Amino acid sequence: MLQVDSLKKKYDSVEALKGVSFSVGAGEIYGLLGPNGAGKSSAINIIAGILSPTSGTVTVSGHSIITDAVEAKKAMGIVLQEAVLVEELSALQNCMFFGSLYGIPAERLKKRSLDLLSWIGLSDRARDPVEKFSGGMKQRLSLVLGVLHEPSLLVLDEPTVGLDPQTRLLILDSIREISRKGTGVLFSTHYLEEAERLCDRVGIIDDGRIIAEGTLASLREAVENVQIVTLRGALDAPLIEEAVAPIAGGRILLRAENEMVISLPSRSDSVAALVQKISSLGNVKEVSIRPPSLENLFINLTGKQIRD
Ligand SMILES: Nc1ncnc2c1ncn2[C@@H]1O[C@H](COP(=O)(O)OP(=O)(O)OP(=O)(O)O)[C@@H](O)[C@H]1O
Ligand SMILES: [Mg+2]
Repeated sequence: MLQVDSLKKKYDSVEALKGVSFSVGAGEIYGLLGPNGAGKSSAINIIAGILSPTSGTVTVSGHSIITDAVEAKKAMGIVLQEAVLVEELSALQNCMFFGSLYGIPAERLKKRSLDLLSWIGLSDRARDPVEKFSGGMKQRLSLVLGVLHEPSLLVLDEPTVGLDPQTRLLILDSIREISRKGTGVLFSTHYLEEAERLCDRVGIIDDGRIIAEGTLASLREAVENVQIVTLRGALDAPLIEEAVAPIAGGRILLRAENEMVISLPSRSDSVAALVQKISSLGNVKEVSIRPPSLENLFINLTGKQIRD
């Protein structure tokens, strides 16, 4: 469905993508998970044909977005972070307008538009101008516009940012439904819970590179033997370092003024022993030990939290 190979993007001085490769199969939901500035939008905009890459290739249903853009775009539905809607037109008119650009015959287009507006819960607002819509309603309409022409690939850039929890869940469930019909889905997010809830496979992107990729199960396995210990308080860093040093596999991931994050092998007595030792140092106000999660993996790989 989608094949991305060695994608690089350089803006003047910033190297936003440093060689990104991944693929998305039919009916698969692939999540591009990463913090602000990781390169998610750069990758999505290149795949959508809105931005040209410095180098690398993107193929959608066998069509190159660079040399065969018209066919590649026909096979793709796009939902960007900022909704692209005609504000003065009604929801239905937006569907009719954008659908006609794909050459869908008017009669069929109208039926499909009304069906989809009903599916997403906008039936009763179908004839109201979009400028009166809330952010959540606009995002729901954007999703409808993205799938009007029955694309084989749906691409979404952080589709739930700024939405209330209820609308977020509706959007996520709707994406799941779309994929069940065989559409491949690529979506970017910096919400770990979203990736965990929705994705068949996740690519963790940081600083322009995919640093880990796989099914949630396989990514979890990679962190299963690791525990993350977070200490907060007026910490005596050298003393804590001294306590961590003798532990095989122990690693200090983050050293900030009032916080230290330590990675420890979980299948040993080291965690309990260390926590006891550290607690006795005084000045430690809070100790948290977390079980394996994608967030642990992310911290382990990058030394930083996924949310900033
Ligand atoms: N038009 C541009 N000109 C210069 N630098 C840019 C431009 N667009 C993005 N960048 C830089 O490229 C890097 C990646 O940005 P990008 O928008 O792709 O990240 P992102 O993962 O989508 O972040 P966010 O979660 O904030 O949306 C950042 O360092 C950003 O500052
Ligand atoms: Mg972005």
